[in-house]
Amino acid sequence: MSYVKIVGGKRLKGEVKLQGSKNAALPILAASVLCRGQIRIENCPDIADVHELLYALSFAGIKNELHDGRLDLDTSEAVPFSFGQEFAKKTRGGILLLGAFLGRFHEAEIAYPGGCVIGARPIDLHCSVLRALHVSLSEEKDGVYAKGRPQGDRILLSYPSVGATENAVLAAVCGKGRTELFGAATEPEVAELCRFLNKAGARIRGIGTSYLVIDGVSQLHGVHHRLSGDRIVAGTYLCAAAMTGGEVILRETDGVCLEGITNNLCAAGLRIQKENNLIAARANDRVLAVPCIRTAPFPAFPTDMQSQMVALLSVADGDSVICETVFESRFGIVPELQKMGADVINTDRYVIIHGVKHLQGRPVTATDLRGGAALVLAGLAAEGESKVCGYEYIARGYENICGSLCKLGAEIMLTEE
Ligand code: EPZ
Repeated sequence: MSYVKIVGGKRLKGEVKLQGSKNAALPILAASVLCRGQIRIENCPDIADVHELLYALSFAGIKNELHDGRLDLDTSEAVPFSFGQEFAKKTRGGILLLGAFLGRFHEAEIAYPGGCVIGARPIDLHCSVLRALHVSLSEEKDGVYAKGRPQGDRILLSYPSVGATENAVLAAVCGKGRTELFGAATEPEVAELCRFLNKAGARIRGIGTSYLVIDGVSQLHGVHHRLSGDRIVAGTYLCAAAMTGGEVILRETDGVCLEGITNNLCAAGLRIQKENNLIAARANDRVLAVPCIRTAPFPAFPTDMQSQMVALLSVADGDSVICETVFESRFGIVPELQKMGADVINTDRYVIIHGVKHLQGRPVTATDLRGGAALVLAGLAAEGESKVCGYEYIARGYENICGSLCKLGAEIMLTEE
């Protein structure tokens, strides 16, 4: 198993290129199933979740070539395929194949993606939006089987689920008639999926809002798309600058939407400047406490930045409270930070933090993607050496995190057990 070895206390300084967005890449890979012709996706992140989904798509006859951020896909020989547990459990993105395969083949079968440490992550909303599109969908023992060409209708989402919104869009774009989606998720990644689909010939209106109108078309054509930068990875590196008293510049940040993130990082004392294709950040002498932060669907503070914010505020000058309203168990980082000397507790949906001057380097273990990244941040700020086990979680969403942080002056190394 791989782990990350860090000797903390180094002030980060320099610039790195921001990777492409994982949570835009995954729905867009699913959407490529609907496109007939040459599909080219630029700025595609070289991360485990992307490779897992490309591996699954190859079993459905979809050829792919990813080289240096450029992904070429050929779906001319795509065929229906039943995606079992070996695919579904590895990446949440697989659930989006439901809508994509329904849209192209009018049938889809996928194993339950299963929960993870951050929550049960049921798929009831996915099933309800597909049934609302008059698809016959049965929930079997180990997976979901759906059949029929989606028929447009009015759908109200009871919660702005990102994945359920994306599945509804993927099923409706080649469906029959008009679909009106009320209460849709408005995350930037959902808007980017819709823009990708419209470039391929789809007819989606209301992009970026919670009310989407989709007029079904017969089929979609080839498309060339450049993925936006990953806003969560950007926020993670900005936290790294703040925690090490450093100054960092992120390049290729065009189109990156940091709404809900920058306001809270600035409240913690980070000075952030966005211009052209760059985001520059300079740390304060000491991280400032932020009395109350609440995660919620976009444009609020994103749940995917919660663990990183807990790590940041654990070395703040004062007390902070974070309320996690999206995932019921996204608190795996708390006991690990306690091992490093953080004064932090989790009760119910709250994380209560009394900032300390210094964390101590310790062996800690990641149990989820963003928690793992947050432990790396804590190691960068800690005194002495840390060992962050569970690198495989971090690799799901961060492209070469050790190389990038090393470039910024961190003493960090990926090590095999
Ligand atoms: C997407 O997950 C992201 N993943 C998550 O990022 C992100 O945390 C989440 O949206 C919220 O922004 C990808 O885009 C691949 P949801 P998704 O459906 O679609 C409940 C990361 O670290 N729910 O908006 O699965 C669910 O349990 C990952 O990059 C149901 O109850 O999130 C959760 O409590 C983690 N029933 C809440 O809604 C459903 O059918 C939000 O989930 C679906 C969801």
